[in-house]
Amino acid sequence: MTSKNCHSIADLTIGFIGAGNMAQAIIHGLIAADHSASQIICSNPSQGKLNALKLAYPDINSTTDNNKVFEVADIIILAVKPQMLSVALSSINTDLCADKLLISVAAGVETSTIYELLYSKGAIVRAMPNTPATIGEGVTGLFAKGNVSEIQRSYSEQIFNSVGQSVWIKQESQMDWVTAISGSGPAHYFYFLEAVIDSAVLHGFDPSTARQLAVQTAIGATKMAGANHDADISQLRQAVTSPGGTTAAAIESFQNDQFAEIINQALKASVKRGQELAQTSKAKQTTHK
Ligand SMILES: NC(=O)c1ccc[n+]([C@@H]2O[C@H](COP(=O)([O-])OP(=O)(O)OC[C@H]3O[C@@H](n4cnc5c(N)ncnc54)[C@H](OP(=O)(O)O)[C@@H]3O)[C@@H](O)[C@H]2O)c1
Repeated sequence: MTSKNCHSIADLTIGFIGAGNMAQAIIHGLIAADHSASQIICSNPSQGKLNALKLAYPDINSTTDNNKVFEVADIIILAVKPQMLSVALSSINTDLCADKLLISVAAGVETSTIYELLYSKGAIVRAMPNTPATIGEGVTGLFAKGNVSEIQRSYSEQIFNSVGQSVWIKQESQMDWVTAISGSGPAHYFYFLEAVIDSAVLHGFDPSTARQLAVQTAIGATKMAGANHDADISQLRQAVTSPGGTTAAAIESFQNDQFAEIINQALKASVKRGQELAQTSKAKQTTHK
């Protein structure tokens, strides 16, 4: 869903609680999209990651005090590990959240849990990005309850579109599926590539040639899928599958081995694990309160 308004994040200060991998990916994306480093503030308990950010972007603001981020930022991205969220928010003066947009990237932590930690102050968007964000090719599932305004939705899109694409998810329960499909997704594609490369090596290819053939095929095929929005993916497949040909033989072998069902089962296993972790995380947040 694309928001209709044209409010820009350009003049807003964006704050990060946690300066780890995901925060760094988003910071790089924002700055590459011309957001001024002087309008970014980041907090982290240890100094090393803050120093590295300062080295890359001398104008960036950094602190070890989470409250400072809440004081100066218009939008705050909660980028700590799920189990650290309640600790990170426990020392926050929640009055500072009242008019702010908070975006949590913490996997599996429900918006209701965050509202509870912040005594219902602020507007919360839950986001599930993925690691290709580090090269500007991520996709982020976004979820917000009704109290998040259209402008705040637009701000959220702009942030995650700076590291790829974003898509709104209507029901929070589907965020577990977003985690399975795209959050964890890169590893699934890597696993497929590993299997292709292993097969090629098993049949006499040197690893580097096998890798080049497999990886560039994946890049080419996914770019074709991305470029042909109107075509069903099955149409793209059929276009390169002549009846009785070599491709058809491989597809038939996949089908005989129930490939689609194998994927379905894997995604269901991921969703189930996500739900289990969310329950554990909910219990931990309550304990830390
Ligand atoms: N990486 C991914 O692919 C990915 C994808 C989707 C969602 N996510 C979500 O993104 C979040 C961050 O993941 P990540 O991979 O970026 O983890 P990470 O690299 O470990 O970063 C987490 C950062 O939080 C800092 N931190 C710990 N306690 C804090 C506190 N009380 N206040 C402020 N900062 C604190 C840590 O600092 P120290 O290291 O100094 O302790 C660390 O720099 C997680 O919730 C994860 O579920 C990640």
